[in-house]
Amino acid sequence: MIRKKLIAGNWKMNKTSADAVSLAHGVVVAVGTQSNVEVVICPPFTALEGVAGAVDGSLVKLGAQNMHFEASGAFTGEVSAPMLRALFVTHVILGHSERRALFGESDELVNKKVLSALKNQLRPILCVGESLAEREAGSTLKLVQTQLERALEGVSKDLAAGIIIAYEPVWAIGTGKVATTEQAQEVHGFIRGLLAKLYGEPAAQRVRILYGGSMKPANAAELLAQKDIDGGLIGGASLEVRSFVDLIKAATEVP
Ligand code: 13P
Repeated sequence: MIRKKLIAGNWKMNKTSADAVSLAHGVVVAVGTQSNVEVVICPPFTALEGVAGAVDGSLVKLGAQNMHFEASGAFTGEVSAPMLRALFVTHVILGHSERRALFGESDELVNKKVLSALKNQLRPILCVGESLAEREAGSTLKLVQTQLERALEGVSKDLAAGIIIAYEPVWAIGTGKVATTEQAQEVHGFIRGLLAKLYGEPAAQRVRILYGGSMKPANAAELLAQKDIDGGLIGGASLEVRSFVDLIKAATEVP
């Protein structure tokens, strides 16, 4: 089973709308007509409309970093799936560790968002991952299992294959401390095994599982060569055309 590699940029709370459009143009030009690797960029909400224009007609896809699970209503400050769809957004990052840790998102909330995204034909990039304390306590796999099972509650087998999972060890995010290839592959393999138990082997083989956490051009090739690592969810290194494009190049060159 060949899964197409996917490189996604999570720009977090960076870039004004004008800066985002300029970065997006750079990515579009560099990606050109290569279609071996799928590329998704996730700017902040305020830049989605501008970036939608910049990627229009290109192979670069547009993702959001979060959304509310309701379609509309009295939810001050929130953005819904239909609003994202209207801006030609195709992907949405859900359950990022920063949202869990800084904004109190629970597994139950993440589950509601996953179901809402799928109902609205948005492809979730569902993030899971352990903190340093959890890794040191030896509870990484248990924690990842709980996060995954709870987030996927009520997701049918048909829709499960379209979900993208991102394994992001919290201790590796923005710290420059990347997981070793063995550490990452162990968790990625475990996640695929869990998906096989939940949805059967064929569906599990179709799900892309991305690694995130200090992924850089210098460490990408080794990580991306692992059997169950299907791409990257990139923070810092997605904020410059050069480093992001080098990551895409590393993904195209995986044997
Ligand atoms: P860094 O690549 O900056 O470590 O961030 C990873 C991340 O959180 C992507 O969602």
